[in-house]
Amino acid sequence: MNEKIAMHLDILKGLSVYYDSPFIADIRETSLRFPRLTLGHALNRNQITCKKWLVETLFDVTGGELGRVCVLGGWYGVLGAMLLHDRRFRVERVTSVDMDPSCEEVANSLNRTHAKSGKFEFLTADMYEMDFGDRAFDLIVNTSCEHLEKIEKWYGRIPSRTLLTLQSNNYVGIEGHVNCVDDLDGFKRQVPLAEVMFEGELELKNYTRFMLIGRR
Ligand SMILES: C[S@@+](CC[C@H](N)C(=O)[O-])C[C@H]1O[C@@H](n2cnc3c(N)ncnc32)[C@H](O)[C@@H]1O
Repeated sequence: MNEKIAMHLDILKGLSVYYDSPFIADIRETSLRFPRLTLGHALNRNQITCKKWLVETLFDVTGGELGRVCVLGGWYGVLGAMLLHDRRFRVERVTSVDMDPSCEEVANSLNRTHAKSGKFEFLTADMYEMDFGDRAFDLIVNTSCEHLEKIEKWYGRIPSRTLLTLQSNNYVGIEGHVNCVDDLDGFKRQVPLAEVMFEGELELKNYTRFMLIGRR
């Protein structure tokens, strides 16, 4: 292992002790086992800023009672880990879903602490094909709405009154961003909630992220 990598890994280990954080320890192990550039992207400043915004707002809206949570387009399971490590929330289980099978072992490693106890599970599936009525989730999160060309097809599958937390953005020109929106109103037209509990936007360096929380 080269010296620089060893140094960064040592720092992560030290930080996990200092903050008494099994999450940082899991990040260290995962970066060692799966040294992919995309893991760095999933944990970069913008991604964590957007997810921290989601976590804080979700706590304000729900008071922390989440039950069975489904995270769609969950990629490497970063959001699932953030919710499960946050002691303010009561989470029965997080099911993190992604259609890309290469995400599974990385997400399970990043969520090692909770995968062992069964509180975190990964599902390789296409969200267009899932039967949401069958699995009875208390909360469905989708922070990958900008990736869904046929978003109305997915939205039509969600049972009415389901609690949803949704994010999209106006970051056009990025690979896979086939459904960006110009503004919050455009996002609301794509996912017309019966009851809106939160709506907002967050300015980031290269784009704006939009978030809606409410009932289908
Ligand atoms: C780049 S990532 C996540 C970006 C997002 N802004 C976030 O919350 O971090 C988008 C993920 O959505 C997944 N995805 C796209 N379409 C999907 C579908 N129909 N079903 C399940 N996963 C999907 C991709 O495989 C990818 O891992």
